[in-house]
Amino acid sequence: MTFKSTALSLLVLAGLVLAGCGKGPETAAGPAAPGKKLTVGFAQEGAENAWRAANTGSFQAEAKKRGIDLKFTEAQGKEENQISAVKSFIAQHVDAIVIAPVVETGWEPVLKEARDANIPVILSDRSIKVDDDKLYACFVGSDFKKEGQMIAQWLIQHTGGKGRILELVGTPGSAPANDRHNAFADAIKGTNLTIIDSQSGDFKRDGGKQVMEAFLKKYKKGDFDIVYSHNDDMAIGAIQAIEEAGLKPGTDILIISIDGLKEAVQAIVDGKINCVVECNPLAGPVVFDAVAKVVAGQTVPRISYNPDQLFDQTNAAAAVASRQY
Ligand code: AHR
Repeated sequence: MTFKSTALSLLVLAGLVLAGCGKGPETAAGPAAPGKKLTVGFAQEGAENAWRAANTGSFQAEAKKRGIDLKFTEAQGKEENQISAVKSFIAQHVDAIVIAPVVETGWEPVLKEARDANIPVILSDRSIKVDDDKLYACFVGSDFKKEGQMIAQWLIQHTGGKGRILELVGTPGSAPANDRHNAFADAIKGTNLTIIDSQSGDFKRDGGKQVMEAFLKKYKKGDFDIVYSHNDDMAIGAIQAIEEAGLKPGTDILIISIDGLKEAVQAIVDGKINCVVECNPLAGPVVFDAVAKVVAGQTVPRISYNPDQLFDQTNAAAAVASRQY
């Protein structure tokens, strides 16, 4: 075998090995020129709560720091608005598109348009369901299934696996609502923990309060033991409703939640929330690292998860001062 044919074989082999990793689309011009100012379209899903404000702020601050021209849109929780935003980014020939998808389904047509235009798509925060996962370059965010498992495991340990749960669900059809419900429900199978009711508060503080008020009309003290909230904002809204009903959150009713807002970690210190699993919104640096690699034609892992931690009475007081969101 000649040197030329050996080198060619090695190149083909490397291509096959890397085929499982995400990569920007091939273009006639090749990867973007190094040093070129990047233009990135970010289709944010909404502005529903404190977590989302921290997420948006992280993207905007990091784009400024890196000199990225960030075209930002906020879809008010409506998938059709996000799809229009993505179409507009395609028409503007941005270098890459970042989407934090409202819901998991309905993305194929617009992702095919992005692919046809040779514009890579990076998913941030929320995943999607598509038949062809090559329609996006990679996903960067938290592992919502793991969050549901972690909080269920804490609950099993701290209740001896017994109790009646009211569930405050996030936005219907969204990856965090689906995964946090399914993983939690699977993890409590075989215990005497049961979800007796589930209602959506749309990841909003007033949504959580309204759902809890309705629960408190339907169920009296003693009918339930635990509130599992898919996020901190709904949990904080529910706490307001519980206190207005003359009950003590954290004592009369166990409150468990996800996100890790500073306010929620402080509520653990105050004895009003019992456990919070983190979901880090400060995604700007990691997502723009991925964008830069994809645009440069480098390979990136298909999925990168944040290392999220758990807070309860054992560590909340030490952690609260350094919470950044
Ligand atoms: O997708 C992440 C979730 O969306 C966060 O838990 C929640 O607060 C936000 O609305």
